[in-house]
Amino acid sequence: MIAVTAATGHLGHLVVDSLVERGVAPERIVAAVRTPAKAADLAERGVVVREADYSRPETLATALAGVDVLLLVSGSEVGQRVQQHANVVEAARAAGVRHLVYTSAPQATTSALVLAPEHKATEELVAASGLPATILRNGWYTENYLGAVEQARETGVVLGSVGEGLVASASRKDYAEAAAVVLAAAEADPAFEGGVHELSGDVAWDHPYLAATVGEIVGREVVYQDVTPEVHAQILLDAGLDEGTAGFVVALDGNTRDGLLAATSGELSRLLGRPTTPLAEGLRAAVGVASAA
Ligand SMILES: NC(=O)c1ccc[n+]([C@@H]2O[C@H](COP(=O)([O-])OP(=O)(O)OC[C@H]3O[C@@H](n4cnc5c(N)ncnc54)[C@H](OP(=O)(O)O)[C@@H]3O)[C@@H](O)[C@H]2O)c1
Repeated sequence: MIAVTAATGHLGHLVVDSLVERGVAPERIVAAVRTPAKAADLAERGVVVREADYSRPETLATALAGVDVLLLVSGSEVGQRVQQHANVVEAARAAGVRHLVYTSAPQATTSALVLAPEHKATEELVAASGLPATILRNGWYTENYLGAVEQARETGVVLGSVGEGLVASASRKDYAEAAAVVLAAAEADPAFEGGVHELSGDVAWDHPYLAATVGEIVGREVVYQDVTPEVHAQILLDAGLDEGTAGFVVALDGNTRDGLLAATSGELSRLLGRPTTPLAEGLRAAVGVASAA
């Protein structure tokens, strides 16, 4: 069986969809989720829904019984994730999971990306567990810019402090399909070779290009306005963000300026067997999904 954690989240749900599309029988897929009530649609489709809370190890042992291949989608509770992921890896080892797949971050073990330390620690504990594993170092989601679209619709401006930094984003669906490719291959082949994959979009774009693309979507002229990190932080504080969140956003823009999200390895399109979804297409789909929700 193949288990996918966080299958009530955007990425995990798309992975389950993709596994089914690839012909994996729903009853061979376990949606291992913190909130089973949110997974009613998956249960209706015949997917096995089990409770799996990263912070409650007792749920993990039951959730992973009989599972051969596990996708651990990185948690969303920043600061708690290393212990949470350790709980899942330990439960996987105890349950006899044959192959673990983990969604990490670009160059996690060496990057200065603010989000990298928890992914680095997780990669290290996966390695220390001795479990055969595949690390999917997911790059930036195109969907992260949905907020920028909505803001630009109102103001005509995409504002940031990324300078000339490039972003090689891809759609969540691209990353999800790649995960499904790996999971299905690992399930089919007991000797499946793991490894580390640096996944990102085929094209690294800059923020003036983002602004022009957003402009086409919202039907007005949109420009990119670059400000200093200090001014950026003050604008975010004035807009009501708390200091921690504002600092985090500005730090991420600094990481972008430093090129930490720019690498185009081509590994994602190679796994998919097709080009990654272009920025405009990915943003349009995300806007469509958001307005239909
Ligand atoms: N590469 C990027 O650009 C990028 C951007 C954002 C996030 N990420 C990372 O990628 C992950 C997946 O992204 P996403 O878009 O699918 O995020 P998402 O839609 O916010 O979903 C997060 C999922 O994590 C689950 N979760 C949180 N805490 C948990 C816990 N203690 N035990 C079990 N499940 C827990 C949530 O369960 P509930 O439904 O019960 O809340 C939800 O299913 C994120 O969690 C984050 O680590 C990457």
